[in-house]
Amino acid sequence: DLICPGKRAEIPAEGFPLFFCFGEGGGAIARRRPSRDWLWAAGRGVLRKSFVLPKGIPLPVADRLGPRRRGAAQAGKLPDAGFQAALEVGVQQLGGHALYISGPEIGLGTRESVYDVANVLSRFVDGIMIRTFHQSDVEGLAKYGQIPVINGLTDDYHPCQVLADLLTLYEHKGALAGKKLAFVGDGNNMANSLMIICSKLGVDVAIATPAAYAPQETYVSWAKENAKAAGSTVTITTDIAEALRGADAVYTDVWASMGMEAETEKRARDFADYQVNSAVLKLAKPDAIFLHCLPAHRGSEVTDEVMDGPQSVVFDEAENRLHAQKAVLALLMGAR
Ligand code: NVA
Repeated sequence: DLICPGKRAEIPAEGFPLFFCFGEGGGAIARRRPSRDWLWAAGRGVLRKSFVLPKGIPLPVADRLGPRRRGAAQAGKLPDAGFQAALEVGVQQLGGHALYISGPEIGLGTRESVYDVANVLSRFVDGIMIRTFHQSDVEGLAKYGQIPVINGLTDDYHPCQVLADLLTLYEHKGALAGKKLAFVGDGNNMANSLMIICSKLGVDVAIATPAAYAPQETYVSWAKENAKAAGSTVTITTDIAEALRGADAVYTDVWASMGMEAETEKRARDFADYQVNSAVLKLAKPDAIFLHCLPAHRGSEVTDEVMDGPQSVVFDEAENRLHAQKAVLALLMGAR
């Protein structure tokens, strides 16, 4: 029963570094879903928790919760259609209800203090997923609230996205340990989370970035510590060819992240040699997959040829945000 009909490859019972569970489910929303729903849960250490997730959590998770405990709120300073769909559809499939509160409505830290927001929302909903700039907002909500808080994106990290990315790598390439992922572009939140999580799971990770845009040392040394324990490697280089050599997956992200729009032109110049195009993709293994967290700026960090080419798995990856985030929700809110 380790096969997910129609979609998933065989999952080894041993040695697979991502937890998973399944339950009775269904629902008409995700078209590719089989009649049984698989939940994929978080990579070890992703949320800096030790996950021990029993298999077979029945769905909907809401059945296991008291009458009050059925909702999740998303607080977003940074809107994104994919993120919002994955969260809202995911909550709905788990039997809950999602509420979207936009940045201006919540006014986190301005209109209302983080402490007060954490305590107010804790009285209404069972969990919060937040997309914001400051990591301290997420940590503040988690500190002061009485409900799980999930990082939907900050300037520093994008952990849920990386769960979806690794699930996609696993689906296409099998066991993760020993694989190599190359990230080309800005040493940003994606680069940080990829480094930290890949290194933890035994995936070699190489970041190719202009020197001025290299990831901060704090994240690099965290990743290197992980790598030491897991027997993986972390490489930071300005040389794309070095990063892509032997890579099983090539990843890129926008050159100007949300909030950096004013730097768009400067960054376009600074990153001009860091576009993932067909010639660059050839520097990786011939069967390497191409990943992008989306939204993509076609013609900037990636060309249409690559996005729409045979090696691109970006829409599997996008779908996997649903599965990965549902797993996190089930884990944090259902598996009590
Ligand atoms: N680095 C991008 C990721 C978007 C999913 C950003 O922060 O805007």
